[in-house]
Amino acid sequence: MCGIIGYTGFREAKNVLIESLKRLDYRGYDSAGIGVIDNQLQVFKEVGEIPNLEKEITVVKGTFGVGHTRWATHGKVSKENAHPQLSCNKKIALVHNGIIENFKKLRDDLEKKGHNFSSQTDTEVIVHLIDEEYKGNLEEAIFSALKKIQGSYAIVVVCEDEPGKIVGARKESPLVIGVGDNENFLASDIPAFLKYTNRVIYLDDGELCVITKNSTKVFDVNKIEVSKKEELIDWDFKDAEKSGFPHFMLKEIYDQPDTIHQTLRGRVSGIEQSIDFPENVGKLLDRNLDSINIVACGTSFYAGLLGKYLIEKLTDIPVFVDLSSEYRYFGTRNKASLVIAVTQSGETADTLAALKEAKNSDCRTLVITNVIGSTATRVADGYILMQSGPEIGVAATKTFTSQIIVLFLIALKIAVLKNKLGSDELYKYILNLKELPRQIREILERSDGIKNIANYIKDANSVFFIGRGINYPLSLEGALKLKEISYVHAEGFAAGELKHGPFALLTENTPVIAITTKDATYDKIIANIGEVKARGPKVIAIADDNDTEIDKHADFVLRFPSNSRLLSCFSITVILQLLAYHVANLRGCPIDKPRNLAKSVTVE
Ligand code: AGP
Ligand code: GLU
Repeated sequence: MCGIIGYTGFREAKNVLIESLKRLDYRGYDSAGIGVIDNQLQVFKEVGEIPNLEKEITVVKGTFGVGHTRWATHGKVSKENAHPQLSCNKKIALVHNGIIENFKKLRDDLEKKGHNFSSQTDTEVIVHLIDEEYKGNLEEAIFSALKKIQGSYAIVVVCEDEPGKIVGARKESPLVIGVGDNENFLASDIPAFLKYTNRVIYLDDGELCVITKNSTKVFDVNKIEVSKKEELIDWDFKDAEKSGFPHFMLKEIYDQPDTIHQTLRGRVSGIEQSIDFPENVGKLLDRNLDSINIVACGTSFYAGLLGKYLIEKLTDIPVFVDLSSEYRYFGTRNKASLVIAVTQSGETADTLAALKEAKNSDCRTLVITNVIGSTATRVADGYILMQSGPEIGVAATKTFTSQIIVLFLIALKIAVLKNKLGSDELYKYILNLKELPRQIREILERSDGIKNIANYIKDANSVFFIGRGINYPLSLEGALKLKEISYVHAEGFAAGELKHGPFALLTENTPVIAITTKDATYDKIIANIGEVKARGPKVIAIADDNDTEIDKHADFVLRFPSNSRLLSCFSITVILQLLAYHVANLRGCPIDKPRNLAKSVTVE
């Protein structure tokens, strides 16, 4: 995963690099490092997060350099394995995001040629290869070195002998140029330089760029210069700040009334009674569509599972949901199916591979993502942006609710096209959707009740989440959120499945969160609550304000405002997010950066 940054301009590079790394550390925080050139290359590295590195840095001038925050794939977490990695003569510094698959063979060959390696990383072979090829022109050396490399990479490289120049290249890992005035940037992700500029140029796979403070040049694999379009990002720098909240995650949970509104913006028209998508997306959602495959990972996968319930309910089209890491290798491909990839970052390696697999099988492809210009948007036939602004907390929150909104809109659009939904019903759904921000605000105001429950479950051995229908994927997501940020073991189950095995794990110290809605299976989940209670655990129900029955069955109840049943998933999600957040907070966990995780998983 890793976050990489390069800067060349007029400011003190050290400050810019450190500032940018703090914006990229959600991509990895095993170790960090910078290399700055002021006549001579100076490198500082440290294990752990950026403040550890800051303590190490002595006075360093220089207005160009590179930085890295690592999520280790090859070689343990240590100072020598931190990036930048250096050439033998310590003149070339390189930062890398990705995996070099043939590094062992390359390393053997380079060692035979006399290169001394000082780390166990796969990355180090790239800088020695560049050194081997270097004849006074950095980009030429990189072009030659990359020909020998197999695997994925985004690299940013500087050389002491070529002041002010930074060279970057990418293949299957993200890299974007930030275009400033008298300064330029190269980074894994936009928030890294958003404080300085919102003008960006996205690099495509196989491209190499050379930037100085006054120029940006991009070349294709054949070294032919290509003209690239500069794009303006409308994210506000403040969106990537905590704005007074103790954690990004909490801020992002509280952002949801606004982000839901943003996701709906320009897409639902109560007056026209229509759902509007760009023309190329409209073409993918035609009335003859007879099945949909959804591919995704983690929380996005659970959004996909939820989307299955929504789309099948409203359109009668069968929806098959696969984990990207499975779909890319297994299963059958149906050319007539539309493949929808759900990915917040648009850079998840497994989801990109699944998308490519779908394309190679001649399926039509659509991406739901939050990041304009991300690789997924370039691979697929069409994309729908979530419009939720940058999400920094490693745990996905506001992007999950935006993903569900988009899937809901897709379901409505297809339902109308297939004459499954009349205009009055559509109008009702539109009104209910527009109600959501107000309802989410209400949940946020009720957070004291959620904090009390958090206090109750914070020392549990394990927490179970159960639900039926659309509440089943919510159970999975509630459990994932809890385990990833609070380290409390948690599992989500379809409520009917408990008796097929999981019951064996139930003890009095296993609180069960039961998600209930007044649907056709309400009586069934009430029965499941009874079965659980008979074995000792306490049950915390999540229920509609209008549910007068539930208090008789559950030990505690967390309420949400009534809405159309299909739309209660949004309020329930926010309750689950707040619950996980408060448990993690009470346990003193590093909420925005859980151990061993990273926001964007750009390696397989
Ligand atoms: C969720 O909280 C995660 N940290 C993780 O499961 C994430 O949803 C997953 O890695 C997929 O990422 P993507 O949406 O960027 O593809
Ligand atoms: N493979 C490199 C390392 O272990 C980079 C890791 C990554 O991009 O996740 O240092």
